[in-house]
Amino acid sequence: MIFRQLFDSISGTYTYLLASRRGGEALIIDPVLEKVDRYIQLVDELDLRLVKAIDTHLHADHITGLGALRDRTHCITVMGERSKVDVVSMRLSEGDKLTIEGVALDVLYTPGHTDDSYSFLMRDRVFTGDTLLIRGTGRTDFQNGDARAQYDSIFNKLLRLPDETMVFPAHDYKGETVSTIAEEKRFNPRLQVKSVDEYVDLMGNLKLANPKMMDVAVPANMRVGLAQDEIARRGWALSAREAIALIGCPDVAFVDLRERAEREKHGTIAGSLHAPYPELAENVGRGGMLHELARATGKRILLYCAFGERSAMAVQAAQDVGLASACNLTGGIDAWKKAGGPLTR
Ligand SMILES: [Fe+2]
Repeated sequence: MIFRQLFDSISGTYTYLLASRRGGEALIIDPVLEKVDRYIQLVDELDLRLVKAIDTHLHADHITGLGALRDRTHCITVMGERSKVDVVSMRLSEGDKLTIEGVALDVLYTPGHTDDSYSFLMRDRVFTGDTLLIRGTGRTDFQNGDARAQYDSIFNKLLRLPDETMVFPAHDYKGETVSTIAEEKRFNPRLQVKSVDEYVDLMGNLKLANPKMMDVAVPANMRVGLAQDEIARRGWALSAREAIALIGCPDVAFVDLRERAEREKHGTIAGSLHAPYPELAENVGRGGMLHELARATGKRILLYCAFGERSAMAVQAAQDVGLASACNLTGGIDAWKKAGGPLTR
């Protein structure tokens, strides 16, 4: 297991890099824009392949590295389904699993600091974002924060994890690096309350100044989506409405780039092939399934995913290796559903 805790001293943010082995897939939690070069260097040094970048919530104190990491490594960006971010490649909700090769994290919805705060549990450790900090808790006075919801997230979800579970937060301002559930239960001053009302009172009287970066960071972090219009401008895209008109058309192969769990949860376009995004390079390369399909049949390859990001990156990659018939379903299954497109399960 490879596990690295990285620190941005300007915002006091912890970023975590996880992988099951050298040479394998990696994921990164809460990356900071200014540190992206360092992450990419470390990923290279450890001989890893970054495949997912996740934010626990929409941050107010730093600009996320999600978009930059996606642009530079073609990794999948991930956030919770409640996030107000414009576009990420994948959205998760409570009960889902966030997976890469050899690593699976349980997704817990833990609102309170913000209404889009999620925690991620990996066996002996939990990444708590700003919901539960070391000897503290995330403020609840902006971004739809709610002390009552946070009490519920902490007392009824996080503190019910085994006592020895290690707590890795998104921030620390005093140099603490890790705690445990048992320690926080006993020693976190914010958690020594007798009722939810007492906690709400406590959180309502903190009188904190807004984060310095807030006016810059929040709007920036809401716009991390890949500009899919560039792909469309080149004539490599179809709208959901245009794609719906092609159902059953023998000249078109619909190709689903999502993961199996996403297909099962949200449904698929009938008759589509499944070619998961992490295997894209093999599939579009010479001798790969999609490459040979396009060459042998002359079919138009219509790539789709959840929101159109993975497919937009895939179309670019396919075009780069000469697959001229590859095109993007703009907005993905989300747009397809909104346009009334049929799905099967
Ligand atoms: Fe935060």
